Amino acid sequence: MTLSESRMQYPVPAAIEHPDLVTYRSEFPILQRKTYMNSCSWMGEIAKARQKFATIIGADPGEVAIAPNVSTALSSIASALDYSERNNVVMADMDFPTLAYQWLVKKRLGVECRFVESPDRVYVPPELFESTVDDRTALVATSRVFFTSGYIQDIRKIADMAHKCGAYILVDDYQGTGQIPLNVDAQDIDILVTGSLKWLMGGPGLAFVYIREGLIPSLEPTIAGWFGHRDQFQFKTREFEFRPDAARIEMGTPATAAVYAANGGLDIVQEISVERICERTRYLTNDLIARAREHGWGVRAPLEPEQRSSIVMLELERPEEIVKELVGRNIITDSRPGLLRISPYFYNTIEENAVVIDAIAEILENREKGS
Ligand SMILES: Cc1ncc(COP(=O)(O)O)c(C=O)c1O
Repeated sequence: MTLSESRMQYPVPAAIEHPDLVTYRSEFPILQRKTYMNSCSWMGEIAKARQKFATIIGADPGEVAIAPNVSTALSSIASALDYSERNNVVMADMDFPTLAYQWLVKKRLGVECRFVESPDRVYVPPELFESTVDDRTALVATSRVFFTSGYIQDIRKIADMAHKCGAYILVDDYQGTGQIPLNVDAQDIDILVTGSLKWLMGGPGLAFVYIREGLIPSLEPTIAGWFGHRDQFQFKTREFEFRPDAARIEMGTPATAAVYAANGGLDIVQEISVERICERTRYLTNDLIARAREHGWGVRAPLEPEQRSSIVMLELERPEEIVKELVGRNIITDSRPGLLRISPYFYNTIEENAVVIDAIAEILENREKGS
């Protein structure tokens, strides 16, 4: 059949010219290089992100899944656990609240949340986990780095306590991945969740999940999406079969721009190495703490330098007002209730430490004069 015969049989509507639409071609640089007719292809970018993240934590890419945020990932995992024989979950009262919410909402299913209490809001003695976990514990879920004190927990110790009772350990590593070296095997971690927003410098919209290889086959969440199907591109409507790898917990189309951004951040972390990032940020952190103590300010931080991470919390009154004044001086910090947070990273300098501390001192001095 010739083209004109084919057009007779399958009529093509008369061409409508849209010259204005063609001008948009300059917004898409790829069109100068390629005839691009695949407006949804970025699976390779996701695979790259999985690979890079796996390398950073010492895992296999098949043990890594992505999620839009930590809360979604946790919800999926929480839905996959069997609470019939083991109905309690142990957490620290200093953990980021979204962790506890996953199991607090399961109260009507008979799930009990047990919180180990911090004596000083800096840390939780690891022995408290041991006395709280029992043979009815499904999971110990806690952070490697506490978000309000920067304290680095001994995860291996807590993992051993959980495993001794037959429970799993899940680590919320949002405040650790990227700035503090980690090997998931050495720490004997079962599940780990983290986000690319903070120390991985990838911005919001992407979280990573690690699931230990041996645990993957038994994890079958009760929420699902087509990305978690074994034969995703077979589009089988009538049956659901889990993927054999960790990505079985993935749901729907990810925020692709976030995946690209995450890859940019992961590249930098890999290039520098987490070990060197840690060395540098610890130096900056210890210097900040020393400067703050020199001024007599309360610092909510671990006593032992090796337990500290790059979160320096100053106990100052009305911290949100100080943060605002600092913005006026082009100094960016943040606040939490009753605390001013300074979070330096490897790109900061000792001179910038002095700038921020001197500025706070001046603001406090002015406050005193004004009162
Ligand atoms: C320890 C910790 N976990 C989780 C989150 C964020 O969770 P999500 O990705 O669900 O917003 C944060 C945010 O600051 C955090 O500090």
